Amino acid sequence: MEGAVAEKPVIKVAAICGSLRKASFNRSLLRSAIQLCKESIKGMEIEYIDIAPLPMQNTDLEVNGTYPPAVEAFRQKIREADSVLFASPECNYSISAPLKNAIDWASRPPNVWANKAAAIVSVAGGSRGARWQYHLRQIGVFLDLHFINKPEFFLNGRQPPAKFDSDGKLIDSAVGEELKKLLLSLQAFTLRLQDNFFSSTECPSSSCR
Ligand SMILES: Cc1cc2nc3c(=O)[nH]c(=O)nc-3n(C[C@H](O)[C@H](O)[C@H](O)COP(=O)(O)O)c2cc1C
Repeated sequence: MEGAVAEKPVIKVAAICGSLRKASFNRSLLRSAIQLCKESIKGMEIEYIDIAPLPMQNTDLEVNGTYPPAVEAFRQKIREADSVLFASPECNYSISAPLKNAIDWASRPPNVWANKAAAIVSVAGGSRGARWQYHLRQIGVFLDLHFINKPEFFLNGRQPPAKFDSDGKLIDSAVGEELKKLLLSLQAFTLRLQDNFFSSTECPSSSCR
């Protein structure tokens, strides 16, 4: 219709947690992000994607270019997403094993991470997760996964006062504000990336969709 302003598309975000622990702080943070997005961010939906059913990466499980059902289902969820929100603890100064396993499965051909926007949050120990976050950014270089630069989000889960209540609900409003800023940045960056991607005639990456 003439004069009508085009509505921005709804951004679909896949939220992945690198901890399999039932009471994971990082999963609690993702739940908070999902709630926050529902309540106060228009044009973005976050879906939690469980990586617990994935088998350990093993190319023997790949048969004629197909993957085990849990892997196919996970890959499809990533394929459908516009962007990815990673939350994870740091493990021995690096990425947790479950998260690396999920990344590796989705990187198998065709690499379904390619050209997605992404953001990282972490609840960890003393280092607050800085080291693993930078390892993930390095992996993103190879996978054509594009991370927002700022804001960065690091949280020490052990430092008082408690950030979560006994049900895993985020109770620190300042942390909630930080999380919201990160989500808004991810939304803006995803739209910018898609604008640039779909308006360019040629993509220099070999793995363009
Ligand atoms: C095997 C292992 C290694 C860890 N290594 C680190 C580390 O290098 N740096 C850090 O800050 N925390 C480290 N931690 C602590 C976790 O990051 C912390 O307990 C985190 O809150 C757990 O996340 P979750 O609550 O989402 O499971 C480690 C924990 C485990 C189990």
